Amino acid sequence: MKLWHGRFAKSADKSTDEFNASISFDQRLFRQDIRGSIAHCRMLARQGIIPREDAEQIEAGLCGILSDAEAGRIAFDAGMEDIHMGIEGLLTERIGPAGKKLHTARSRNDQVALDLRLYLKDEISSINGSLKTLIGALLGMASENQDVAMPGYTHLQRAQPVTFAFHMLAYCQMFLRDIGRFKDCRSRMDQLPLGAGALSGTPYRTDREYLRAELGFAGICANAMDAVSDRDFALEFLSAASIAMMHLSRFCEELILWSSSEFSFIEMDDGFSTGSSIMPQKKNPDVAELIRGKTGRVYGDLAALLTIMKGLPLAYNKDMQEDKPPIFDAADTLKDCLRIFTEMVSSIKINAPNMENAARKGFLNATDAADYLVEKGVAFRDCHEIIGRIVLRCIEKGQGIEDLSLEELRQFSEHFGEDIYGRIDIRSCISAKKSEGSASFESVAKQIEAFEEILEGI
Ligand code: ARG
Repeated sequence: MKLWHGRFAKSADKSTDEFNASISFDQRLFRQDIRGSIAHCRMLARQGIIPREDAEQIEAGLCGILSDAEAGRIAFDAGMEDIHMGIEGLLTERIGPAGKKLHTARSRNDQVALDLRLYLKDEISSINGSLKTLIGALLGMASENQDVAMPGYTHLQRAQPVTFAFHMLAYCQMFLRDIGRFKDCRSRMDQLPLGAGALSGTPYRTDREYLRAELGFAGICANAMDAVSDRDFALEFLSAASIAMMHLSRFCEELILWSSSEFSFIEMDDGFSTGSSIMPQKKNPDVAELIRGKTGRVYGDLAALLTIMKGLPLAYNKDMQEDKPPIFDAADTLKDCLRIFTEMVSSIKINAPNMENAARKGFLNATDAADYLVEKGVAFRDCHEIIGRIVLRCIEKGQGIEDLSLEELRQFSEHFGEDIYGRIDIRSCISAKKSEGSASFESVAKQIEAFEEILEGI
């Protein structure tokens, strides 16, 4: 019999029961649900809303259910509808009439909003821990490879020389922003919805401040209707998860490119690669490809919840039950990807000579050659034109700018002097950068140091 059967003349069809049930997926909220119920029951007793003896029985019963659920001794089934009714039903079965008092001054609407917020707050802490570990690994790689020059690209065309360390630091910044986004989202979701009731509050003298402190929230949802209708916190979580996945995906794309024979900048560890069933020579970067693929899946989770919410009138609607699969899926996927990505990226072998050779070919020093002429008093736009013509000549001859003799260079501009060669060597091009946050060896060393400090403070 359903806990809400009173108003019904007959039971729902079995297929309706199954269709309506969320327990197959929301049972994973049992810890949060029981935690919320224990706080609620203590509050009810403190406020004299239910007798203390009943509250004691309820709390003991809930603790018993918690340890049984932890031990996998409870078979949650569709007949229970959802985790909230499942636990309440079980409680009454176990302790008798006192169990029926637990749901006083509460609705499943504020209960589910509470469970989800508690769940996501914990997930965010764990995700941010993983992001921090990943940044630590990247910083280590940066610090060990400060000397390794590589091409920097725009449009995937060689652009200007940088170092491998500098490239890693760019990703550190991206993952640091992810941590910030998750923190922001966590601090906005840190408001207690419990006590809102179904939608308009309750007539009991509840103590929401006590609940807030017991359940570790920073504040209390100020409007009961908003408290039960709102899923912004979940959408923000999914947005932050999507952006973090996008960062992982871009990184994976680079690892895939870099490990191809065309680039040969890195070698993936065998442990994170797989072979082909037909081509014996293949070593495929499947793990990186899968992370890139799973990014689409997390975007799908965000799109799903945005779409679920877009037409809903206030306050609670059953559509909102569909929020859980995408939320769980995104959290699981992101955590999984962060873990395996960190292991994978830490195990790559860097082919420094190939990176450096690639940085020497493709006119990555052309901007520096133009900057040289600026220093000699030529306007930048004219320098750009002069070097452009030099590059065109070099392409015809199959040479680099540095291979032209001073005489040849002077045919393009009389301002060239012997000192040009020292300026367009790629290491000089890297060292010459002076702006804050640049690719210069000096700036990179500073960035690593600053980052190590930031990481300690997180
Ligand atoms: N299983 C429901 C959900 O996940 C719980 C809230 C149900 N509330 C209701 N009024 N039917 O959204």
